[in-house]
Amino acid sequence: MSELPDPKTNRKPDHPVEPLIVRRWSPRAMNSEPLAERELLTLFEAARWAPSAYNEQEWRFLYARRDGPHWPTFFGLLVEANQAWCHRAAALIVVLSHKVFTRNGKPNSVHTFDAGAAFENLALQGTAMGLVVHGMAGFDRDKARTALRVPGDYDIEAMIAVGRPGDPAELPAELREREIPSDRKPVGEIAREGPFAF
Ligand SMILES: Cc1cc2nc3c(=O)[nH]c(=O)nc-3n(C[C@H](O)[C@H](O)[C@H](O)COP(=O)(O)O)c2cc1C
Repeated sequence: MSELPDPKTNRKPDHPVEPLIVRRWSPRAMNSEPLAERELLTLFEAARWAPSAYNEQEWRFLYARRDGPHWPTFFGLLVEANQAWCHRAAALIVVLSHKVFTRNGKPNSVHTFDAGAAFENLALQGTAMGLVVHGMAGFDRDKARTALRVPGDYDIEAMIAVGRPGDPAELPAELREREIPSDRKPVGEIAREGPFAF
């Protein structure tokens, strides 16, 4: 079984951070091996402990395993460019968020923010487990809403591919070239003391 590539050779944080944060990246090479139900449950367990406004926990996850009955439906939501590498994923996840607070039905202005926090927890947990976790915006939201019967008070946020690391040589050429951990803007470009000054 391949190991999750460790990006530390081309990722150097400017300030000290937990190594897991820098180790998380979004490879596309996976090897088609399935994941055990308990591994998926551990990923969702990590997501479960994310912070949310009023502890609303408005994230929801729908998933399909490659060897399960829902795989063709979930796979069919992806744009071709994502299908080109996701056919070797072990699971596909659709992330939803509830747009209103359960306790009073009022709009929750941070439902997307909270769902993003849950995704990052899941991604960090997957990284710690040596798995590929790759977020995706490239899919058909309208189709997802219909096919997965998502009610109108839930937003469809993103999809996630999860799997065991594979051989980048099996990726289409243009994706193989991009199978390199990316760098980041310096902190000075993303954080300022005081008012907006970027
Ligand atoms: C919400 C979201 C949507 C994304 N959509 C796609 C996508 O549709 N296809 C894809 O190949 N990568 C997608 N990505 C992966 C990003 O390109 C990747 O996270 C970004 O380049 C930073 O690289 P890293 O995750 O390896 O650190 C997405 C990531 C996020 C968080």
